Amino acid sequence: MKIIRIHNTGKGILAVDESTKTIGKRLKGIGCENTEENRQGYRGMLFSSPGLGKYISGAILYEETLYQNHADGTPFVKMLKDQGIFPGIKVDTGLQPFPGGHEVETWCTGLDGLQERAAAYYKQGARFCKWRAVLQITADGAPTDAALKENAWGLARYARACQESGLVPIVEPEILMDGDHSIETTARVQEKVLSTVYKALADNGVFLEGSLLKPSMTVPGAECTEPVTKEKIAEYTIRTLERTVPPAVPGITFLSGGLSEEEASLYLNCMNEKPRKGPWSVTFSYGRALQQSALKVCANIEG
Ligand code: 13P
Repeated sequence: MKIIRIHNTGKGILAVDESTKTIGKRLKGIGCENTEENRQGYRGMLFSSPGLGKYISGAILYEETLYQNHADGTPFVKMLKDQGIFPGIKVDTGLQPFPGGHEVETWCTGLDGLQERAAAYYKQGARFCKWRAVLQITADGAPTDAALKENAWGLARYARACQESGLVPIVEPEILMDGDHSIETTARVQEKVLSTVYKALADNGVFLEGSLLKPSMTVPGAECTEPVTKEKIAEYTIRTLERTVPPAVPGITFLSGGLSEEEASLYLNCMNEKPRKGPWSVTFSYGRALQQSALKVCANIEG
């Protein structure tokens, strides 16, 4: 397998792979209709931002965008590559309820025919991919062991299938911020989640050097009333990763998960300011925390 450097010091990944339904919510927020033309226009605006390639090394796309052209006729894939940005693709097909688990739990679908789809995405220019499994912490038992194992196994099967087709898999076990649990609880649960994920990756022979991890940061639940500093969040996040992520993994690319642009930037900066034992690079793969301001600018232009 060829090793490509999607993670790159000083740069991060732009997650612009919202499903048609999710981007519809974002566009509605700025009073814009969810049409193919508007999705193309909005994403074309992002990809033609001057200097984008100085800060962004990869862009995760939704399938529609991978095959779409900019308004001037240039394929989006070419636009990105011309700026030194690797095109990536979201390959999971979404979450489904997890019968037998806690009522909030889900499992992630998309394994059927994945190797063939991944090969077609590679042919179209994608070089890396993403699969998002979601777990939630509740006071009454979630995540259950069953949901944790299922989601870890799905991530591992996905990573293996996509590596067979030449794509670098981003492994994304998101722990939602919903809840009032403490940062200590998040750290404890996340250690268990990441250990289970890396055990499943090992069991499936995933080539760790050709993969990336996209975790949530180790933050308290959004409704937790106990104040916590950015230094503590950085310290707990790095500690969690050092305890669970094998050194063969080259890069950690965080999701923002509902943090504001400022919070997500400050926490990440704090992590990079301190020396750490883990050899991996630590950067961003934000969706909302990179697009909130861009959407507002868009709203002003439209309005
Ligand atoms: P957020 O940064 O908005 O969480 O999105 C990142 C992502 O790709 C989620 O799968």
